[in-house]
Amino acid sequence: MGAVDQSAAGDRLESTPGDHLERCLKRYDAALARDPMSALALVREWMRTDWRTFFAELRGQRPIFVTPAFTVVTRFADVVEVLSREEVFTVRAFGPRLDAALGAPFMLGRDATPMNWREKGLMQVMLAPQDAADLRELAGRIADEALDAAAPRGRIEAVGELFRHVALRVCEEYFGFPGPTPQTLSRWTRAVVTDGFANFQGDPMIQAESVRAGEEMMAYLRGLLAERRAALEAGRRPPAEDVFSRLIRTTLPAEVGVDDDRLLVNMAGLPLGFVESGPGAMVEAVEQLMLRPRVRAEAVDAARDPDPARFDRYVWEALRFSPFFKLLPRLCERDHVLAAGTPRRTVIPAGTFVLAAPASAMFDPDVVEEPDDFRLDRPGHVQLFFGHGHHACLGVHPARAVICEVVRRLLRRPGVRTLPPPDGEVVRAHGIFPDRFVLALGPDGKGV
Ligand code: HEM
Repeated sequence: MGAVDQSAAGDRLESTPGDHLERCLKRYDAALARDPMSALALVREWMRTDWRTFFAELRGQRPIFVTPAFTVVTRFADVVEVLSREEVFTVRAFGPRLDAALGAPFMLGRDATPMNWREKGLMQVMLAPQDAADLRELAGRIADEALDAAAPRGRIEAVGELFRHVALRVCEEYFGFPGPTPQTLSRWTRAVVTDGFANFQGDPMIQAESVRAGEEMMAYLRGLLAERRAALEAGRRPPAEDVFSRLIRTTLPAEVGVDDDRLLVNMAGLPLGFVESGPGAMVEAVEQLMLRPRVRAEAVDAARDPDPARFDRYVWEALRFSPFFKLLPRLCERDHVLAAGTPRRTVIPAGTFVLAAPASAMFDPDVVEEPDDFRLDRPGHVQLFFGHGHHACLGVHPARAVICEVVRRLLRRPGVRTLPPPDGEVVRAHGIFPDRFVLALGPDGKGV
């Protein structure tokens, strides 16, 4: 490890106070014996607010934590096993919500179908990894413009003015999907993603909002496709070389089965994949960096280095302390012995709702040395920010570039820092999707 890594390691937060350990499971067992619903409420609350402590206890005491409603999987090897066995642990629960919004199946709602194989392959070609460098520049430029505009005020509401703003502009300029306005595209993604991934009670209002947003989005995309095609046929150049124009110009044999409807469903998947999770990850990373003064000072220094790779390691290690996707839900389709051949061996019965916890796996001391320390030498294969296996993130290359560059441009600003509560607190819709995170800019918050 270099000097930077050493000093960063010293900036350790007390994330797992010892006397709190042991307490959760005792309280859970007592509540379960008395009133099972209250036991589940406790688990939900700990997973929402005190998840690092709770997961630490589970990893040590009950790594495969079976409750009457769901099973939480906390060790790295077991999380990877769940995410690698798509025929056993499926995403069937996502299917109906996404189908209802998009009016057709999408890869994240189906497992191991010819459609997944074909369309993930196609979209991986469209989101070419070699685009990342230019995209990074684009995101950096948009971020700097937003920061310049905010600087005279001495503060920035980083979600709306920076993170989400950049994500929506990336949808416009890189995906070729601007929406009628950025605000409308933003409303659509929030509605569909909220129903798909945060509507645990099946609230019909949230479902209706998602269906309405999905219908509007698909109708808009059909119009945009017609416009783009007409322009192409008239010999006009596309407004830009973007992912949409690439898709339109790609001709596949008819028997492959990618017609216009499939093309548009996959276009819809781009902002749905990015506009919530991209800003979500940026907020988490910045919040974690700001919590650690020494790490923050080093990250600020690294942000000025012409080699962005030196900075990026700070973002990923910060995100390990609070990944945007803490749990990945799966439905167990048939009885399965999880962690076979280990002391953790557990039979998961068919029908079990399984929560694989990347947020816990990335603290498993079997694969992450001194997990509570902020260190820059974490190997990439233990990082599960973008999932693992069959449903691993399609957008990993563009997402990595944009997240790192936007956070880097922010940290290059002199005096950037969090504010005391309430202004400095992150406001999240449904406890998940960030809506507000005010940061001060410039010396004494007076702007630059
Ligand atoms: C360009 C931006 C992005 C796009 C287009 C995108 C798109 C997608 C798509 C289509 C899937 C489903 C893949 C499949 O079913 O095979 C997926 C999965 C996933 N994405 Fe992304 N994504 C983006 C950014 C992000 C970001 C910023 C994060 C978080 C830091 C993220 C985390 C994930 C995770 C964890 C999964 C796996 C979900 C699961 O296994 O249940 N993605 N992404």
